[in-house]
Amino acid sequence: MMVDGGGLMDQRKGIMKIRHVNNKVRYVKRPIKKKNNRSSYRERKDPKVLQKLFDSCREVFKGPETVPSDSDVNKLCSILDEMKPKHVGLSKNMQFFKSKSVAKGTPSVSYTPIYQCDEFSLCIFFLAANAVIPLHNHPGMTVFSKLLLGDLHIKSYDWVDSMPPPESQPRLAKLKVDSVLKAPCKTSVLYPTTGGNIHEFRAVTPCAVLDVLGPPYSKDDRDCSYYKELQHSALSDGESSRVNEGGSDYLRWLKEIELPQNSHMERIDYWGPQIVD
Ligand SMILES: [Fe+2]
Repeated sequence: MMVDGGGLMDQRKGIMKIRHVNNKVRYVKRPIKKKNNRSSYRERKDPKVLQKLFDSCREVFKGPETVPSDSDVNKLCSILDEMKPKHVGLSKNMQFFKSKSVAKGTPSVSYTPIYQCDEFSLCIFFLAANAVIPLHNHPGMTVFSKLLLGDLHIKSYDWVDSMPPPESQPRLAKLKVDSVLKAPCKTSVLYPTTGGNIHEFRAVTPCAVLDVLGPPYSKDDRDCSYYKELQHSALSDGESSRVNEGGSDYLRWLKEIELPQNSHMERIDYWGPQIVD
């Protein structure tokens, strides 16, 4: 499934589109088309929005062990809240986002890195309808997620206790968010210990999500862990009672797991408006 659709403009004035073949998303270069003055103006202007986001990230993210101030968070949110698909070279008219049919096999998740340095990263995730990015954490990170296109179910948790349990033991978490976002919508923000640091994305319709991570994941210091929710029947009496104390609707035991099978994400190149570093 997936397909052709609206044009994308990169810095080299090529017109791009996303193609989804054999359950994969592709940006595909197309012939250059002459544009009228109005669209040329828009395309000259669009890269400035991404550049503004990038420049603000440079100012806001100070590196590992730091969290942006409230005013800095507001600054990034104000930019992201106004961001539209075209600012990263996307369009709701692309077939990928219009597709209602479900592909055979596991619905695909792809990602497009836009930029990464030691302090922050910018990345777009593409989720086909019914695709899932399983429950995972963001150790020591502040993360801004802007849903650009589609309807996305977000479920997120924060740990109840700051100290992690012994290895392989489940850990109690408090449900923070369990709702469906519909683009266009406000930016979601999570912090190292609040705001739903452990979350799951489940695409109701084909989605594109722009994520700003500060600092980014690191194999050495901030690797990503995956979790599953334990049902009450899987818990000991003591664990069950602790859940019930807080109201079983809001507390869950999460157990760390290996990356679930069929959770592979394919990387695709970014061909949207370019950043000047
Ligand atoms: Fe995430």
